[in-house]
Amino acid sequence: MDYEEKIAKIKKIVDLPISKFKSEELKAIIERYEKNHVKSKEAFERARKIIPGGVEHNLAFNYPFPLASKRVFDCYLETVDNIVLTDYLMDGGPIILGHNHPILTEKVIEVIREIGPCHGLTNEYEYLAAEELQKHFPSCEIIRWLQTGTEADMLAIRIARVATNRKWVIKIGGSYHGWSDQLVYDMHVPGTKLLESHGIPKNVFKFIDSCPPNDIETLRQMFAEKRKVAAVLIEPMGGESGANPVRPGFNKEVEELCHENKALLISDEVVCAFRLHMGGGQAYYGYEPDLSVFGKIVGHGYPSAAAIGGKEEYMKYCAAGVGGGKRAYSGGTLAANPLTCAAAYHAIKLVEETGATEIAGKAGARLADGLNEVFAKYELPWFSYNLGGTVHFHTSCLFGLSFDIPDQVGQLPLRKKFMEHIGAALVDQEIISVAGSRFYMCILHTDEIIDETIKKIDNICQKIELN
Ligand SMILES: Cc1ncc(COP(=O)(O)O)c(C=O)c1O
Repeated sequence: MDYEEKIAKIKKIVDLPISKFKSEELKAIIERYEKNHVKSKEAFERARKIIPGGVEHNLAFNYPFPLASKRVFDCYLETVDNIVLTDYLMDGGPIILGHNHPILTEKVIEVIREIGPCHGLTNEYEYLAAEELQKHFPSCEIIRWLQTGTEADMLAIRIARVATNRKWVIKIGGSYHGWSDQLVYDMHVPGTKLLESHGIPKNVFKFIDSCPPNDIETLRQMFAEKRKVAAVLIEPMGGESGANPVRPGFNKEVEELCHENKALLISDEVVCAFRLHMGGGQAYYGYEPDLSVFGKIVGHGYPSAAAIGGKEEYMKYCAAGVGGGKRAYSGGTLAANPLTCAAAYHAIKLVEETGATEIAGKAGARLADGLNEVFAKYELPWFSYNLGGTVHFHTSCLFGLSFDIPDQVGQLPLRKKFMEHIGAALVDQEIISVAGSRFYMCILHTDEIIDETIKKIDNICQKIELN
C-alpha cells in the first residue's frame, strides 16, 4: 500500500464516526474477560496498592484491567490464569527471534555464571558488540552504550548542541523519543505540544519545537526563522514508529535541509534497527544521519540496552570521566555491562544468521494483507500495512488525529476507548497486540499462526456494528 493510499485511508477513518461494537457483543467480551482473567484481576488489585495505577508499562494492555504475565515462550505469552495468548506485543518490539531464544539464553547465562553481569570496567563484550552494531550501521563510527532509548535521545540532542554551539532542536509532531523533559513535547498525536508536560517547567521547552509530519516546507521555514537549529530528530518510519506513515523521500529531504543549514540529523532507530532492515531506517530509506539512537532492540529485550552512535567529529564530545573540556556529559553506572553487551553481540549475530528481519517482514506482509481482505469483506474502513516486521492496523486512528485541527481535539478519548475495546476483543480471541493497533512480528509467527490470527480478527469484525 503506497503512502497516498495510507494517508487517504487515515483521513477517511478520522472523518467517519468512530466504529462501534454491537453492544451485546461488547458486553459479552467484557464478561468473558472478567471470567477468564480472575487471577490477573487479583494481581492488579494487589499491585495497585503499591505500584502507581497498578501497571508500569506504557504499552501494557489495561482495559478492562491489565493482564498479569506468568511467562513467555516462543511467540506466546501465558497469563497467570494459564491463558496462552499469541504474542504480538513482543515486549514492545525488541523480540524478533522469539522469546527465550535457546542460543541467546545460553550465552547470557554463561556470562552471568562465568564472567559476572556487571564490572564497572571495560569488558571484551563492550567493543565486540559495538563492532557488530557498526557493521550494520556504517554511519556509526563511534558508539557509546547507554541504558534506555530515552537516555540515548536525550544525549543525542545534548551532543548536537555541544557540537554545533546552537540550541534549537526540532522534532516531528507526534513522534515519540522517550520521556526526558525536553522530548515530552508534541508526542503521540501531532499538535498536542505541551499536553503531556505536567511537572516540567515551561522554559525547558524554550528551544524545542515541532514540525507537522511530512511537511518539508514548514521545516524549511523553521530553519529560515530559527537559524540556530542544532538538530532535527526523526523516527524513520514516521511518528510513533510508522503509525503516522512517512512520505517517501521525506527523511532524505530532512537530511539535505539539515546539512544545508549545518544542523545535525538524528535518526531514532529504537524500533527500526534490525526490525525494519539490518541497517535500520537509514539503510531502508537511504539517508545518512549524523547521530543514531538505539534502544531495547539492540539487546533483544535484555535489560539496560541502548546506544548512541555517530560520526567521530560529533561523538568525540561524549567521553567518560569527571571534568575537563567541552563535552556532552553522560553517564550510567550499569551502561555497557557485560550481560547487556553479550546479549547485544549475540542477538545481532543471530538476527543476521537467521535472516530474522526478512522472515519477520514476510510474516508482517502476510498478516497485513490478510487483515485488509477481512476488512474489505465487511466493508469496514479499517486498514493495515506492514513496515517490515511492524504491522499497523488502523481502526479508530487515534494517531491520525491532529491537534492542529480544533474539531479533532475532543475525539482523542473516544478513539482511544475504541482501541481499548479492540484490545479487549483481541485478548478475547487469545491474541495480545500493542495498544490494540500494532503487531510486532517474530520469526516464530508461522504462516499457520498468522492465518489463525486473521480468522480470529474476522471473528472480531463480525461483532462490529455495520453502517
Ligand atoms: C522511537 C522510540 N524512541 C525512543 C524510545 C524510548 O526508549 P526507552 O523506552 O528504552 O526509553 C522508544 C520507546 O518505545 C521509541 O519507540
